[in-house]
Amino acid sequence: MISIYRLFYTLLLLLLTSSIYSSDNSGWYTDPASILVQPGPCNIDIINNSLTQHNFLTYFAYKKPFQIQHHADNTQFRKACSKDNLLQTYGDKIVRLSTANTYSYKKVDVPLRKYLTEYMQPQDLKTPGNETLYWFGENSHEWDSLFKKYTPPPYKIPEMIEAYSFGAAAAGTGVPFHFHGPGYAEMIYGRKRWFLYPPDKIPDFHPNQTTLQWLIQHYPSLKPEDRPFECTISPGQAIYFPDRWWHATLNIDNSVFISTFHAHK
Ligand SMILES: *[C@@H]1O[C@H](CO)[C@@H](O)[C@H](O)[C@H]1NC(C)=O
Ligand SMILES: *[C@@H]1O[C@H](CO)[C@@H](O)[C@H](O)[C@H]1NC(C)=O
Ligand SMILES: *[C@@H]1O[C@H](CO)[C@@H](O)[C@H](O)[C@H]1NC(C)=O
Repeated sequence: MISIYRLFYTLLLLLLTSSIYSSDNSGWYTDPASILVQPGPCNIDIINNSLTQHNFLTYFAYKKPFQIQHHADNTQFRKACSKDNLLQTYGDKIVRLSTANTYSYKKVDVPLRKYLTEYMQPQDLKTPGNETLYWFGENSHEWDSLFKKYTPPPYKIPEMIEAYSFGAAAAGTGVPFHFHGPGYAEMIYGRKRWFLYPPDKIPDFHPNQTTLQWLIQHYPSLKPEDRPFECTISPGQAIYFPDRWWHATLNIDNSVFISTFHAHK
């Protein structure tokens, strides 16, 4: 009997360890030394699937950002986004890198393999945004086989169609303040800090400064009334940004993410 119990516990232990390993970073491990910032406060609403479409339209769609948690089971999509699988399935696809400043100028086209193995390096505090190449994301039909595994947050905006944008970026990188149409951005691996301002509050930032530089050099001196809306988004969570809201992002860890942009039909 005892040996059967022992066997049982050994198996259980093995199972637990292997499930910890399989729920791990799937190739997106971040060296603690390249984590330069910590998660910040979250001063936006946090909702779950109990929000109705009607209340989404009444309270959020056109008015304010929110974080949504665990809105769908995206396990299969997450598996497909392991580093090995992306290299194997999409390694030869050309991705477009762009400098990470607000008025992006320089563009470089490289195979995804080259991006993931050479370009995707942790950001240091010295390098400005106009000298940082960032993969903003891919949304062409070449990625449809991946996108069809993804379930986006459930709330729709009338008269708008949805398009995905998928990307991966290293710890410390991010996109400085800019705005566009409404949408969601979900983390698949890694955590990302978000900073947002409503359309009528233009943030104070230098267009060639990275979000990392802005956070460390500028953010601490902001007056309370000039502080942004912000939240740290972790895997399984998504943020909603309304139309024309200013936002800047900062990847705390090596990150994989997918956005759902809404555009008029
Ligand atoms: C979902 O959100 C509602 C409304 O904020 C809250 O009352 C409820 O506890 C939440 N459910 C879960 C599972 O977190
Ligand atoms: C990047 O921008 C900074 C500050 O605006 C500037 O000093 C630097 O020369 C620019 N770098 C390049 C390669 O243009
Ligand atoms: C930002 O960088 C670009 C490209 O390096 C440069 O042409 C531009 O002058 C810089 N802008 C400012 C405001 O320094």
